[in-house]
Amino acid sequence: MFVRNELGEDATGHDWYHVDRVRRNALHICKHEKTGDPFIIELAALLHDIPDEKLNTTIEQGRAKLDSFLNKIMITDEAKGHIEEIIHSISYKGGQKTKLKTMEAKIVQDADRLDAIGAIGIARAFAYGGKKGQSIYDPEVQVRAEMTLEEYRKGKSTSIHHFYEKLLKLKDLLNTDTARKMAEKRQQMMLNFLEQFYQEWDGQDL
Ligand code: ADP
Ligand code: NI
Repeated sequence: MFVRNELGEDATGHDWYHVDRVRRNALHICKHEKTGDPFIIELAALLHDIPDEKLNTTIEQGRAKLDSFLNKIMITDEAKGHIEEIIHSISYKGGQKTKLKTMEAKIVQDADRLDAIGAIGIARAFAYGGKKGQSIYDPEVQVRAEMTLEEYRKGKSTSIHHFYEKLLKLKDLLNTDTARKMAEKRQQMMLNFLEQFYQEWDGQDL
């Protein structure tokens, strides 16, 4: 309920349904890989967007919100510490790599990344782009290969560029075989979409 209330109104792709899909993907990966603690995985998946900088005025405020929720429920200090560690370590943020310490963190990160690709990923990219007022595509904008977090958030880009700056790279950054298998069809879906997009853009389908 807490998560649903906090996230319900957001339209940048961080809505309740995203969280619910991440939870389901994460538990699926956990079951298939036969590893990781499902209790930790489920809670971390449910709470993973609570401290997001886009939903809070400051990073500290986001951390405090997560912390205060975890203090209210009956879990051990160890579980609480682990869940906070997972959530603070998994975000993509322009490709900056943080080494994940536990299997649970790897699984929740894979589950979150799977929801950024495929048909859902395409829809989320354009929803995010629309909300930010960015174009769907502009052939004159360069694809940014390397970028700082600041540039990733603030630089001029388009939703189609986001595929090259992040979405198409995600499949090679996954941690588990189960997620890599799930990513195959989603990756193909994005590649087909881009091919068709350029054909229509250039009028080659006339
Ligand atoms: P992260 O912070 O881990 O990079 P976000 O929370 O910013 O991811 O992303 C939320 C959703 O919006 C994701 O599906 C992501 O791919 C999409 N998104 C993020 N940045 C952009 C962008 N510049 N253009 C289009 N979609 C974006
Ligand atoms: Ni997420």
